[in-house]
Amino acid sequence: MTKYVLIGFMGAGKTTIGKKLASLKQLPFYDMDEVIVEQAGCPVSDYFDLYGESAFRKLEVEVLQRLMSKKEEAIISTGGGTVMTPEAQQLLAHSDVYVLWLNTPFDVLCHRLEQDEVQRPLFVNSTLESFFNLYEKRLPTYRKLSDQELDINQQQKILSQK
Ligand code: S3P
Repeated sequence: MTKYVLIGFMGAGKTTIGKKLASLKQLPFYDMDEVIVEQAGCPVSDYFDLYGESAFRKLEVEVLQRLMSKKEEAIISTGGGTVMTPEAQQLLAHSDVYVLWLNTPFDVLCHRLEQDEVQRPLFVNSTLESFFNLYEKRLPTYRKLSDQELDINQQQKILSQK
């Protein structure tokens, strides 16, 4: 039961594209941040404040594991940092997983994150320089894990499909 997993940096458009693909392919859609907020009973930014980033990463792995074990085809959108842990990478290495990387330019991401009402602790609590460093640090992992890369033009094409 293939899982189509969307990966990419914060603000890449994983939720938007995930919802669109789910509606085009008529598949269930799971947004990991949403599942986490439901399970934790608080916004991601509060969870970071209360328990710290490493507790959040553990929770992400638990949630990813649970979603991957569902006996159904589905579209899953991850959080930008989900795929940085070895446990998550192992889950994605499974043969029945197809990983789509949304490779969205840095300036587009930042613009979206500035507008978004959902707070990303790693964005609001860092300088633009250290945020860019985090982006650059993660790129090779996204690239390595992906079965397919979608640039901004390919993303637009998906979003314009009826
Ligand atoms: C994070 C990305 C966020 C959210 C959390 C941490 C990250 O999700 O999980 O703020 O480390 O990149 P989005 O990628 O959906 O913004």
